[in-house]
Amino acid sequence: MPKLLSVLLLAALLPLAASAQAGPPAKPQTSAAKAKPSTASSTAPPVDAEGHQWWQHAVFYEIYPRSYADSNNDGIGDLPGIDSKLDYLKRLGVDAIWITPCFPSPQVDFGYDVSDYEDIDPMYGTLSDFDQMQRDAQGRNIRIILDFVMNHTSDQNKWFIDSRSSRTSKHRDWYVWRDGKGPNQPPNNWLSTFGGSAWQFDGKTSQYYYHFFYPQQPDLNWRNPAVKDAMFGVTRWWYDKGVAGFRLDAVDTLFEDPNLHDNPVLPGKNAFGDPKMKNEYNDKLPEVHDVLQGLRKVADQYNAVLIGETWTTDIEELNKYYGPTSNELQMPMDFLFTTVNKLSPPDFRKQIAAANSASGWPVYVLGNHDIERSYNRYGDGKHNDEIAKVMAGMYLTLRGTPILYYGEEIGMQNNDPKTRAAVKDPIGRRGWPDEKGRDGERTPMQWDNTPNAGFTKGIPWLPIPVSYRTHNVASEQKDPYSILVFYQNLLKLRHTNRALLDGDYVALNEDDPNVLSYLRRYKDQAVLVVINMSPQQQEASFDLAAQGFSATQAKTLLTTMSSVKSQTALSDMTLAPFSVYIGEVSNTAITPIHKP
Ligand code: GLC
Ligand code: CA
Repeated sequence: MPKLLSVLLLAALLPLAASAQAGPPAKPQTSAAKAKPSTASSTAPPVDAEGHQWWQHAVFYEIYPRSYADSNNDGIGDLPGIDSKLDYLKRLGVDAIWITPCFPSPQVDFGYDVSDYEDIDPMYGTLSDFDQMQRDAQGRNIRIILDFVMNHTSDQNKWFIDSRSSRTSKHRDWYVWRDGKGPNQPPNNWLSTFGGSAWQFDGKTSQYYYHFFYPQQPDLNWRNPAVKDAMFGVTRWWYDKGVAGFRLDAVDTLFEDPNLHDNPVLPGKNAFGDPKMKNEYNDKLPEVHDVLQGLRKVADQYNAVLIGETWTTDIEELNKYYGPTSNELQMPMDFLFTTVNKLSPPDFRKQIAAANSASGWPVYVLGNHDIERSYNRYGDGKHNDEIAKVMAGMYLTLRGTPILYYGEEIGMQNNDPKTRAAVKDPIGRRGWPDEKGRDGERTPMQWDNTPNAGFTKGIPWLPIPVSYRTHNVASEQKDPYSILVFYQNLLKLRHTNRALLDGDYVALNEDDPNVLSYLRRYKDQAVLVVINMSPQQQEASFDLAAQGFSATQAKTLLTTMSSVKSQTALSDMTLAPFSVYIGEVSNTAITPIHKP
């Protein structure tokens, strides 16, 4: 949602000054060092001559399990439901699925409040359902990535239940407990990003505990070596079950200033009516990098990938998450990309160039379960389907790994609640009407045009927008011009074309305000991508001599335009409104092909 996004972004965009004041990082020995040797080697075998790893060639796909497919018709998606859709995912061209939390949870934050890290919530199935899904995925060469909610647990987690039971309990220091400043006065002015004070008074022991998110999500104390050991052990437990990596939730907020300095207050109020604040002392503290380096050591033993929910201000900040020697996250998500909220070639050019200058492999996302769907954010209300293809044509042909959000491939749109009473996401109730919550982008996957879009025979947990009648998998599969078929063709091309997999990114025609063009260049082979982001027809012309290509024609590989020849003159290209052209240029003779 725009509001939440702006809250998160505000936190991210504020300069960081906490480092100097923050206390010395706890330096316990990491459990990684003590880990028993695993079967997988710590140096992952590259998949190509460029030394690329599996995750650099993979297409990732985020699944919100509540909303994907409901196998037992209770209105909530589940793991057997996901299992039943693996063939669909394979056909789409997905290599890895990231499943958002499916662990036991009171579901206050719909799974991001974990009460047991080593089990499956009964509403999603059982551990044996997980194993079955894992085996079925493996059989199709689809890897499974789980969500690692490491900043906080549920208040119903046994660790927290023990922690709050007494000041001397075994798990007391697993969380952040402090005395208030006085009666009814929290320890400092820090705010929860979900509204209100970040401190919750607990009568039993007369102290406050810290929660960056909901009060039901107490923050773990990562300065405690026992927390680190337990949490590292969780990742190992799932790796041993065969998962291929984790998406690390909320890494920015893992540490807080132990001296609890007040954060600077800014002018104005946020959607929750709280003063705006610069999260100087509880966001992006440097200690997080020690933890990430430790987690990476464990991951490397399993050839696993770590993806980060990293809300960074700029590429310099993003670079820190790759680690000083590429020893932290392989895939910190570049959310800066999602902040280009208009179809602007100059803005995207800038952002793509920045991503390509990063110290690690770029990771592109257009949307996720916390952000308004890309179909709405980029759509103009009239040409949304064409624009959905334009966006795919761009981010699926860039140098880097894309992470799709389920439903994006069929043009699913937001379905925001109409009334406060209809809201399920607690921030939407608290922040209504400025903040409507994130229900809108989390609605059930649209499989066909039968009632409830084929998601369930029960009552879906969130209402499905009427657009499911046209925007669903079954109907789009039959239409060669649908968004879905375009995604399938594009991902197929991406998997088989060397230049798209491994080529450099070379910006072209950088002054063009309407058409975004670039080459993906690999040795004497290149793919030319030309994207008209405007509602008017545009002309484009390319001289690739400077890039070492004498070719005057491109061989058409894929396009959204119906009247394009199999070979197109580079000097004279006509682009339909909101269109994508992808063609091959090489220095060898071009052989004619059939019309795509
Ligand atoms: C991340 C998740 C979000 C969740 C929050 C708290 O931002 O993406 O959905 O509410 O962490 O766990
Ligand atoms: Ca179900």
